[in-house]
Amino acid sequence: MEQLGITVTEHILIHQKESPMATGRFTRLLNELIFSAKIISREVNKAGLVDILGLTGEVNVQGENVRKLDEFANNALIYRMKRAGVLCAMSSEENAEIIRVPDNMPKGNYILIFDPLDGSSNIDVNVNIGTIFSIHRMVDDGEDVSLQDFLRYGSEQVAAGYFLYGPSTMLVYTTGKGTHGFTLDPSVGEFLLSHPDIKTPEHGKCYSVNESNCSYWDENTRRAVEYFKSSETHRGTPYSTRYIGSLVADFHRNMLYGGIFMYPADSKDPSKPRGKLRLLCEAAPMAFIQEQAGGAATDGKQRILDIKASSLHERIPLIIGSRGDVEKATSIMQGKG
Ligand code: AHG
Ligand code: MN
Ligand code: MN
Repeated sequence: MEQLGITVTEHILIHQKESPMATGRFTRLLNELIFSAKIISREVNKAGLVDILGLTGEVNVQGENVRKLDEFANNALIYRMKRAGVLCAMSSEENAEIIRVPDNMPKGNYILIFDPLDGSSNIDVNVNIGTIFSIHRMVDDGEDVSLQDFLRYGSEQVAAGYFLYGPSTMLVYTTGKGTHGFTLDPSVGEFLLSHPDIKTPEHGKCYSVNESNCSYWDENTRRAVEYFKSSETHRGTPYSTRYIGSLVADFHRNMLYGGIFMYPADSKDPSKPRGKLRLLCEAAPMAFIQEQAGGAATDGKQRILDIKASSLHERIPLIIGSRGDVEKATSIMQGKG
């Protein structure tokens, strides 16, 4: 019998005995996220053909212009996840406040945090974009859901993952038992296991950073980036530079091939002294995924998963990728060379 591939549901069942996460309710949550991603992927794949490109004319809580596909993806996820029957509330990068599941809809004790479309600036030029998600359980099932259920340590996540909309559509996720990749087979509409138990090389061969910000970095940050451009690296040669401008795409390449992604703190925008990326919907889920693939993630000082969020849209510097490279960069950024 030809091996027809392992679906996500089958993969969760296989891991059933190993993970308290593999309950029917978690499977339902992940399958609703998958359904949402299939809807978003369909729109992404035809974005150039219908009037879904461009700006809506609105500005979001991040102060960024909202693109039509951002809005479509956000609305699709909120609509579907409200009806998943396993959530009590969610938070989107695009929404200032938490979104509670209405009382007239079935609820559960999961908390969902997401970036509906990551890499928005790449939408109009047909470059990889993605959706990032982070899943927590309520602090106390007996209480009403509140902001405190969202302001958590990254280490409290029960699952995290992303969808990558590119030459193929992929799902990468972890429940704390390794990081696993699935590729959508459009002919059957199923995500099939394509990258079981991903492991990131200890050192990489490329570094990803927007160097146009270098005049806004502190001296130690500049020295850390210069290190990867020098012959002092473990390779004895400079790393190649690779920067797509979509966190999910840059991260995915470095997780598979090895390498380091850096979005350091910069003084470019006084309203964002801790850099551009968001802790809850970008850095924390990617840090969980990366550590489960054997890599590391810091804010240039401490482990991302050891940081407790103090506000819903808190920004954080992100140094993530191959463990050896992240440890070296973090050491230099701490002035330890
Ligand atoms: P989003 O589209 O969700 O706002 O995220 C964009 C982020 C991230 O995807 C990427 O790594 C970073 O912005 C790129 O920022 P710069 O253009 O400043 O380099
Ligand atoms: Mn993003
Ligand atoms: Mn986004």
